[in-house]
Amino acid sequence: MSAVFVSTGQSLSLVDHVCPCAGSGLTLVCPCLIRDKPPMDELKNPIHPVMLVGAGPGDPELLTMKAHRLLSEVDVIVYDRLVAKEILALIPKEVERVFAGKRASNHYMAQDDINALLADLARTGKRVMRLKGGDPFVFGRGGEEALHLVQQGIPFEVVPGITSSAGCAAYAGIPLTHRGMAHGVRFVTGHTKGDEPLDLDWRSLADPNTTLVVYMGMTNVDEIAAKLIEHGLDPATPAGVLNMGTRPNQKTLITTLADLPNAVHDEAIKGATLFVIGRVVSLAKDLSWFGEIPQG
Ligand SMILES: C[S@@+](CC[C@H](N)C(=O)[O-])C[C@H]1O[C@@H](n2cnc3c(N)ncnc32)[C@H](O)[C@@H]1O
Repeated sequence: MSAVFVSTGQSLSLVDHVCPCAGSGLTLVCPCLIRDKPPMDELKNPIHPVMLVGAGPGDPELLTMKAHRLLSEVDVIVYDRLVAKEILALIPKEVERVFAGKRASNHYMAQDDINALLADLARTGKRVMRLKGGDPFVFGRGGEEALHLVQQGIPFEVVPGITSSAGCAAYAGIPLTHRGMAHGVRFVTGHTKGDEPLDLDWRSLADPNTTLVVYMGMTNVDEIAAKLIEHGLDPATPAGVLNMGTRPNQKTLITTLADLPNAVHDEAIKGATLFVIGRVVSLAKDLSWFGEIPQG
């Protein structure tokens, strides 16, 4: 038995190969291996798995050890707007960087272009990292990128990151679940395409026994508060606005569901923000530890 490379056009696979020359002792290099070897350009440019890596919510010390190690083992890093500058500062000078940042309504690079870029870079034989804020598989479109790579026959690996809800709630002193207050937690997106209304199951979300975390909810904060109240959630339910969580400029506002829109507008909140809605938010007044004074 020996091994041969099989080219599928886009990638190389190593497979077991029953060699008719095996044991003859007549050849130094098995002719089967010569015939089956991949084309020279693929040998020159072996395809490495694209690493889909979570950078966490901002504090560089929340990077996983694996993510940290890979920063200096790859050739090129395609990164998002949400990756903190302190994390970018950990990337060695010789590693190429490509900014693929996105804003909710103002995409710098379309998702299709990002997908194509990752595949194209991998085909050049470079070690490619796709670095994203939080976790790549939580509202990070990491699944779409992974599917595109699969379709292109390019291998990939995922390095999970601390998703912002977990990281920012912890740094705001809000346990997302707590006995007697919340027996579950739900993550939803508050972002819609264009002017479309939010397509969420409001009746189910208006549950006083679970915590609701809304990612990307700033533009639709009025609708989110109004719909939850309309579907029966008490307007006095505690609500937290977690802005730039885990970062030196972290800001936390503690308010009520009814006052959530006013709090956001009055404080002119800008930048990455999560809403946490539920009884657990009331614990922040006792559990806040990060050094900032929660306002509200
Ligand atoms: C496109 S989603 C990406 C989520 C990311 N994949 C994750 O797991 O956290 C971007 C949203 O995540 C939230 N977010 C990310 N980092 C944050 C931070 N440091 N503070 C507050 N919210 C954050 C905000 O709601 C922001 O609009």
